[in-house]
This record gives sequence, C-alpha cells and structure tokens, in this order.
Amino acid sequence: MGRVATLVGVAVALWLAAVMLPEVAAVRILVGKGMGDAWTTNVNYTVWAQGWHFYNGDWLFFVYDRNQLSVLEVNETDYESCNSNHPLVNWTTGKGRDVVPLNVTRPYYFISGNGFCFGGAKLAINVENPPPPPVASPLKSGSPASYRGRIVLPAVFAIGAMWDAFLGFC
Ligand SMILES: *[C@@H]1O[C@H](CO)[C@@H](O)[C@H](O)[C@H]1NC(C)=O
Ligand SMILES: *[C@@H]1O[C@H](CO)[C@@H](O)[C@H](O)[C@H]1NC(C)=O
Ligand SMILES: *[C@@H]1O[C@H](CO)[C@@H](O)[C@H](O)[C@H]1NC(C)=O
Ligand SMILES: *[C@@H]1O[C@H](CO)[C@@H](O)[C@H](O)[C@H]1NC(C)=O
Repeated sequence: MGRVATLVGVAVALWLAAVMLPEVAAVRILVGKGMGDAWTTNVNYTVWAQGWHFYNGDWLFFVYDRNQLSVLEVNETDYESCNSNHPLVNWTTGKGRDVVPLNVTRPYYFISGNGFCFGGAKLAINVENPPPPPVASPLKSGSPASYRGRIVLPAVFAIGAMWDAFLGFC
C-alpha cells in the first residue's frame, strides 16, 4: 500500500472513531439478554445483572408478554417483598416493550405486578457514572469503554493502517 493510501486509511479510521464516539455514552440493554432475552419468570435477574454495567444515560428495554407481566419501579422494601401496591413509577405502556431511561446514579428496583414478581420477575440494579470517554486517539484499544464493543472496529482499522504505515517505512 502506498504512502497516500496509508494516510487515507488513517484518516478514515480517525473519522470512523469520531462518528462512533457519541454512541459510547449510551446503550439500550435488553433485560435478560442471554438468559431468555425477556422479562419473565424463572430467570434469576440478580445473576443476570451481575454480568452487566449500568451507566447513567443507558436504557433498560423490557420485552415481555403484555397480557401477563408489567414493569413497575418500586423502592427496595417493595422489591424485597414483591409489593406492587404503590409503585414509584409504572413504566407499563401496554405494548409489552417498555424502555426505561436510567438517568440518575442510584439503585433502581423493578418488579412485575400480577404476582409474577414472586416467580422471579424482579430486578435490582445499580446505575453508575459512565467510564471516562476514551481519549482522542482510537489506538487506545485498552481504554475502559472499548470492551463495550463500540470503538473496537475503528481501533482495528487504525491498527491495520498503522501496520501498513510501519511496513511502508521498512
Ligand atoms: C439468585 O441468585 C442469587 C445469587 O446467586 C441468590 O442469592 C438468590 O437466592 C437467587 N434467587 C433466586 C430466586 O433463586
Ligand atoms: C417503600 O415504600 C413503602 C410504602 O410507601 C414504605 O413503607 C417503605 O418504608 C419504603 N421503603 C424504603 C426503603 O424507602
Ligand atoms: C400500570 O399501568 C398499566 C397500563 O396503564 C395498567 O394496566 C396497570 O394496572 C398499572 N399497574 C399499576 C400497579 O399501577
Ligand atoms: C429522568 O427521566 C425521567 C423519565 O423520563 C424524568 O421524569 C426525570 O426528570 C429525569 N431525571 C433527570 C435527573 O434527568
């Protein structure tokens, strides 16, 4: 690859990284992803939540049988006891597909009404501040955000371009 082509490669990689960076801030997380991909019973959402980070700005996406379950945000006491009598927020829209914005760094507690909480439809998460955004260089593929899979592609491009440049100098 010629020097000009290499420079174009680097430019494209930097541009890709720049366009993709704004997305790093937020992701929509499907509740139960990888463990049934749904809001239901007989899933241990405590175990599920241990596999995830929940950052301020992310969304929870509840997909479920709209004729049976619901999505109620409750306090810790009502989460523990599956009490759906006084939800803090009723996120149920009736479509069986509800999106909950996580916009405060604090614990959030969700249960389903209609008794399904007792069958396991209960979720407690802790929302944290997002990790510091990756510094301008897309080469820092080991930066905290990269494991979330969003700057990996530009990083691969950039590393490929650098490798070409390196070969060009030899
Ligand atoms: C879910 O898993 C957690 C952690 O292993 C455990 O403490 C809890 O009892 C489990 N809950 C249910 C309902 O099995
Ligand atoms: C949750 O709300 C119930 C009813 O309003 C109240 O009795 C309970 O003390 C609250 N628990 C917490 C941890 O705030
Ligand atoms: C929550 O809202 C849904 C849809 O409006 C409604 O059917 C349900 O009764 C509400 N549940 C509670 C506990 O308020
Ligand atoms: C968080 O989102 C809820 C629901 O959209 C909204 O009512 C609330 O004002 C927001 N809080 C902050 C701190 O942005």
